[in-house]
Amino acid sequence: MDNLVERLNKTYFDGRLSPTVLGALAGLPQQSAEVQTVVERMCKYMGIARFGASDFSDSLAFIIGTIFPGLVPGAWGGMVPPLTHPGRHEKIDTYIDDTPWREATAEPTLLDIGCGFPPATTVETAARLPSYRITGLDPLLPYYIVYDEQGDYATFDQEGKLEYFQAGIPDAERYAALLQDAAATVARFTGLQRQLLAALPAGDAETLATVEQDGAKLVKYVIGEYERPNLTFRRGRIGDSAVGDLDVVRCFNVLMYFDRAFRQQTVDWAGDVLKLGGVFLCGVNWLHSLESRYTVYRREGEHLVAKEFAFSIENLRPYVTPVPWYSIYDDDYDTGLLARLVGTLRSDDPFRQDFDARLDQLLAEHDLFARDDTGYLRFTREGLTPEVMGLGVEVAAQLDREGYVERAVAVLQQAGYTAWRNCVGHVAIDPTGIEVPPLA
Ligand SMILES: C[S@@+](CC[C@H](N)C(=O)[O-])C[C@H]1O[C@@H](n2cnc3c(N)ncnc32)[C@H](O)[C@@H]1O
Repeated sequence: MDNLVERLNKTYFDGRLSPTVLGALAGLPQQSAEVQTVVERMCKYMGIARFGASDFSDSLAFIIGTIFPGLVPGAWGGMVPPLTHPGRHEKIDTYIDDTPWREATAEPTLLDIGCGFPPATTVETAARLPSYRITGLDPLLPYYIVYDEQGDYATFDQEGKLEYFQAGIPDAERYAALLQDAAATVARFTGLQRQLLAALPAGDAETLATVEQDGAKLVKYVIGEYERPNLTFRRGRIGDSAVGDLDVVRCFNVLMYFDRAFRQQTVDWAGDVLKLGGVFLCGVNWLHSLESRYTVYRREGEHLVAKEFAFSIENLRPYVTPVPWYSIYDDDYDTGLLARLVGTLRSDDPFRQDFDARLDQLLAEHDLFARDDTGYLRFTREGLTPEVMGLGVEVAAQLDREGYVERAVAVLQQAGYTAWRNCVGHVAIDPTGIEVPPLA
């Protein structure tokens, strides 16, 4: 076993990680320094959150060893990956409409900053919130997209410059094949783009158009595919001065890639572009709003005031993915605050023991995980399929129905926090005045 994995095991898990987990992490020393640092940071957060070695399942280790290396900016040439996933913001959409912090307006305006591409979640938000006028903004929204005959694709800006390429079906091996000779992949897609563009009939710059040849396809003005009567898209980024007078700004799965100073700049900018009484939500979640956490600010006078920090109950012991502990900077505010609150909850022995026992039962009843003979949690399925995700959501919902959200709220109240169960069933606290020091 390599020193790095041994060191992580000894330092953060008392040397008690299972042989299966150690095996799944064995490739870490061959990964980039960025990946190694991210994984060590995750281990530190797990320590603060009192996440034990026996709950570190083989599937969490597999995700850390195989999927996470493809998510760090270094794997994307320094870019923040534009990936999103249908269904991701289900609960966040409900929260936006139901939050008591926002003043109701007749036709609210919502800006989804860093909406990602394809912007599946923003399209879903527009369908779920038909009375809202929604704008999706992202610096990487493509103008052209070129698919090769296998369905892998590359995106281009309006000047025809390739921005990134991806495996059509998210697949680490296919992506690795494209990356193996990145220059050749860029040259191949660039050639394909020129060839297909030459075959595209002339037309308006803001009209969706498509041309196909020998199984390859070029789409021009790609975002035209996603526009709806209440939804428009534009290339843009945090700090954009062309937006304003908004009721809601949502920024999800973006700020985890930036340091705290940039987060503060984002909060200040959101304060400038929101109406009085408008809200800014920033945070992280994964599939089907699992592993959610977010801060909600409200514009009061000239400034934004933090009103709520909320998280879903499965953050207490993440079973589907290790996303709650993924961050790129040591001074990540939201991850730090989440780890501290979960650590407080898991330090309450009666609550933790009861929660863990019931979670184990539910995971077993849903045929997702079981304890092996040595007490380690083992994934009993193959792959993170939509069915697995659905069952994961069901487990979290059942924990809420059985009162674990309310009990977590009570533990936090006892620890001195102003806490409540929020309008979508997440544990919420008033974050006013809470300092979150950077990781040591
Ligand atoms: C992981 S995606 C998140 C997509 C979607 N919001 C979601 O929650 O699934 C992160 C997005 O942030 C965008 N991004 C990176 N830097 C940004 C910036 N300075 N301002 C706005 N968006 C940015 C990236 O282009 C990328 O599309």
